[in-house]
Amino acid sequence: MPFKVEVSNLHKSFNGFKVIEKLSFNVEQGEFLCLVGPSRCGKTTLLRIILGLETPDSGKILVDGKPVNLEKHRIGYVPQDPTLLPWLSVYDNIALGLRIRGFPREEIKKQVEELMRLIKIEGFRDYYPHQLSGGMKAYVSIARALAINPDIILMDEPFVNLDAQTRNLLQAELIKLHEYAAKTIIFVTHNIEEAVFLADRILVLTKRPARIKRNISMDMPRPRNRYSEEFIKIRESIEELIKEEFEVEFKA
Ligand SMILES: Nc1ncnc2c1ncn2[C@@H]1O[C@H](COP(=O)(O)OP(=O)(O)O)[C@@H](O)[C@H]1O
Ligand SMILES: [Mg+2]
Repeated sequence: MPFKVEVSNLHKSFNGFKVIEKLSFNVEQGEFLCLVGPSRCGKTTLLRIILGLETPDSGKILVDGKPVNLEKHRIGYVPQDPTLLPWLSVYDNIALGLRIRGFPREEIKKQVEELMRLIKIEGFRDYYPHQLSGGMKAYVSIARALAINPDIILMDEPFVNLDAQTRNLLQAELIKLHEYAAKTIIFVTHNIEEAVFLADRILVLTKRPARIKRNISMDMPRPRNRYSEEFIKIRESIEELIKEEFEVEFKA
């Protein structure tokens, strides 16, 4: 079952620099939430705090009403610069998380093969990372995060280094996956078009320290047409919000 995530009154500084200040928001079960904000505003830090890789100075994060517990709450993570292990095949890279967790061999095989079928990469099973295109690597890192059958998926600009066609294709596949698997997804991006295409809801963050500037519910039906008037209008209004943040930064 996908879980609800509650972030309340989060603060985080590095060496006296405030990166996150008084940040509160909820993500509903099965919701696809996109966080957009200027670069260096604290997006990666926020995901790392949710995962327990960084400790907040104050504030709370609850998953399913309880403090994050990575044994109980399975959280899949696609980090900003995912690295596949170069000496492992696609299959073994995807299976890694399950092996670390001590799953039985047969179960791993079943789970990984099913996942590769679902996202249509069976043909790449025995390839090594250096033989893969950028898009395929992004796909394998997503598969790796999904292999543990997570209740929540955190994705940190997973498509940032891809060409536009590949990115659009993977975005469409991610939507299908979200509809099929009903996971709670927190997806960080600074690509506004991407957020408008994907999200159930968009949180626009301020420049550092990250606070919520705007909360936008996206009731536009899917699949969304990037060239429709409604789409462009929302995209432009968010671009305007982000531009304001840059102007603040230049004046400061
Ligand atoms: N471990 C760290 N130590 C010191 N400063 C950090 C650390 N992690 C992030 N920062 C700083 O915090 C700010 C926000 O970083 P980050 O969360 O990566 O932003 P974003 O993902 O929005 O681009 C940046 O100024 C970055 O240099
Ligand atoms: Mg980042």
